[in-house]
Amino acid sequence: MRIGIIGAGRMGSGLGKLLARAGHEVVYSFSRSREKLERLAAESGHGARASSPADAAAAEVVILTIHWQELETALAQAGNLAGKVVVDVTNPMTESDDELAIGFSTSGGEELARRTGARVVKAFNTIPSELLHAGPARLPERVAVCFCGDDDEAKGITEQLIRDAGFDPVDVGPLHGARYLEPMALLVAQIAYEGPTPEVGYRFVAIPR
Ligand SMILES: NC(=O)c1ccc[n+]([C@@H]2O[C@H](COP(=O)([O-])OP(=O)(O)OC[C@H]3O[C@@H](n4cnc5c(N)ncnc54)[C@H](OP(=O)(O)O)[C@@H]3O)[C@@H](O)[C@H]2O)c1
Repeated sequence: MRIGIIGAGRMGSGLGKLLARAGHEVVYSFSRSREKLERLAAESGHGARASSPADAAAAEVVILTIHWQELETALAQAGNLAGKVVVDVTNPMTESDDELAIGFSTSGGEELARRTGARVVKAFNTIPSELLHAGPARLPERVAVCFCGDDDEAKGITEQLIRDAGFDPVDVGPLHGARYLEPMALLVAQIAYEGPTPEVGYRFVAIPR
């Protein structure tokens, strides 16, 4: 599957490499350094390449890995996303990046869907980038990625991408659930960055029925 990544930082590069390794064709975009995009593409292999957000937005799936404060700039460069499958990895943080800018009555995921008309699925926003780069396969157990969205087809595609990246998908319902997943990301960050290692994941275990 051709995957357009908008935002080539810690999350974009980590997801891009895992998904390229799983056989997907990755298009990296949105960096102030063309050399960085080219280097990431070369490191990823499997036909990965560096391009523009508009080109990334033409892929079958778009993964949004930008800072919330850069949303206007990134969307302007991506162009029309109406109807696209957009996996939203962002957390709607303030400029100082230490608290959520919105929540309770809406979420970054819902705002993104409202503004773009895209089929938004919130996913990977609760996973530390360090775990992506270390590789989830190095953990002693397979861990989860919670995701939510309103479009069944977009959710099915995202569910497979979560598996391909090496995680167990946990469907937490409609996009409204982003109101819970976004604060959860801050909880995970607290554990990751105040604990012994950021290379951590989570999973839910149920009593078998
Ligand atoms: N880091 C985590 O562990 C983590 C975990 C879960 C969710 N998230 C969320 O994921 C999103 C991305 O986080 P991140 O840590 O991956 O961010 P990051 O490493 O800072 O990457 C951001 C990317 O956006 C690019 N960018 C910023 N301003 C730009 C501009 N004006 N023009 C072009 N490119 C620009 C940066 O370009 P340069 O290459 O030039 O710097 C970089 O490639 C955030 O919403 C964050 O809340 C992060």
